[in-house]
Amino acid sequence: MNKTIIVSNRLPLQVKLEDDNLNIKPSVGGLATGMKSVHAEGNGIWIGWSGLTEEELNENLSEQVNKAVAKEKCATVPLTQSDIDNYYLGFSNKTLWPLFHYFSEYTVFESEQWETYKKVNQKFADVVLEHINDGDTVWVHDYQLLLLPKLIKDKKPNTTIGFFLHIPYPSYEIFRTFPWREELLHGMLGSDLIGFHTYDYERHFLSSVKRILRLDVKFNEVSYLDRIVKVDSFPMGIDYKKFENAALKHTNQEDDEKSELQRRLDDHIQSGSEAKMILSIDRMDYTKGIPNRIRAFEYFLNKYPQFKEKVRLIMLAVPSRSDVPQYQKLKRETDELVGRINGQFATVSWTPIWYFYRSMPFENLIDLYTSSDIALITPIRDGMNLVAKEYVATRTNQDGVLILSEMAGASKEMNEALLINPNNFAEIADTVKYALEMPLAEQKSRIEILQKRLKRYSVEKWAEEFLKSLNNTKQLDAVIVAE
Ligand code: ADP
Ligand code: G6P
Repeated sequence: MNKTIIVSNRLPLQVKLEDDNLNIKPSVGGLATGMKSVHAEGNGIWIGWSGLTEEELNENLSEQVNKAVAKEKCATVPLTQSDIDNYYLGFSNKTLWPLFHYFSEYTVFESEQWETYKKVNQKFADVVLEHINDGDTVWVHDYQLLLLPKLIKDKKPNTTIGFFLHIPYPSYEIFRTFPWREELLHGMLGSDLIGFHTYDYERHFLSSVKRILRLDVKFNEVSYLDRIVKVDSFPMGIDYKKFENAALKHTNQEDDEKSELQRRLDDHIQSGSEAKMILSIDRMDYTKGIPNRIRAFEYFLNKYPQFKEKVRLIMLAVPSRSDVPQYQKLKRETDELVGRINGQFATVSWTPIWYFYRSMPFENLIDLYTSSDIALITPIRDGMNLVAKEYVATRTNQDGVLILSEMAGASKEMNEALLINPNNFAEIADTVKYALEMPLAEQKSRIEILQKRLKRYSVEKWAEEFLKSLNNTKQLDAVIVAE
């Protein structure tokens, strides 16, 4: 039976060493959370990095890791500390991530890191090649593995290969600054289908292909060597039922089933303070606009002082890539801003910002989503943003307001949210006020339309459409051969 092999840098589970024992946790981030349910349904395996380096593993631990991941239908690619330094922390997160998110000033171009990026993509290819049989499909994910499609296609030309980019694809003017631009594009074009979250990313990619490689592009098809590579947009959805059911279960839970966090949130709601809750959840990443959000909240409190003690911002920031200096800087800046604003505005009975810098279990995410009146999501640039969609899915009473940055891919399908420019503090402040005062009927009519759309375009549907389109490329190839 043919199978689909998923390949990404990060597996859906992340292994860490704590006091010489393995600690296995679900991975955070849109790719892992989104693909998890797709993988669970399928019959294939997921290949990726376990989260531990070769230096951290001895034979016994290695065996334990392999057993643990095999239970989840996963297989690992062994990476050394130097691979992680140069390929993951280095080239992926100091070059591609900032460049593709338009943070050119953060982007470094180091040829040693580029060499390791190539070498590690080859390591992934070697593991994939061990696992594929004729007729299998390989689905490669994200910016850490842009060269992988070509490496597989060169060795196994009959394998059907799909590639999906989970982050933005930048405009040609940005992409052309990348020193190894031709090689990167050739790597991606090893695929039969290349998918992006939005039409804008797709058109930027096609523009790069035309202008840099001078290839013939007709509509969304690229003529490449003796093949056609199809390019299309597939906005990723969420596992809607999972979030809806968790929220429904949550509303019916007895007092003794409640989490510690939920009890505190309840205390807050029942304290009679009438303070409304504004929520934000992100990985601690400079693309997410965290300092902007805090400054905009400060601007709001100054401009509309009548809301002091009547509103609270709850910020959950999940530690991410904390070995990269820009992320450390962001953490310091966030700590400082939260401290300053709480120091300036707090009263005996009110702290304006509750700030958590940690990962939380799924149940606590649901506690937060269901207890918040407003979600304030303000990325400077974001490929999609699944948190926005998850918030909407948990609003089973159809109340609540989503404020969303127009720089998030999700904004393209979420017009009923209140869309803001994350750099315009005055606009954010006015929108927060508007959201706080929005009549229930308007909240419901907005959320209802959003929910209908999200339900229809769930992550299952997204995967199904991508794989259907990928499968159609096989038929396209058959026609070309017959001609
Ligand atoms: P990104 O992919 O850039 O991290 P997204 O908003 O698309 O941004 O995806 C983030 C994903 O990570 C969401 O599915 C969200 O539920 C999950 N997530 C965020 N914070 C946590 C957390 N503390 N614990 C578990 N999962 C989290
Ligand atoms: C984003 C990226 C993913 C990545 C995730 C978490 O969602 O698109 O590829 O896995 O962030 O980041 P990390 O560096 O921890 O894998």
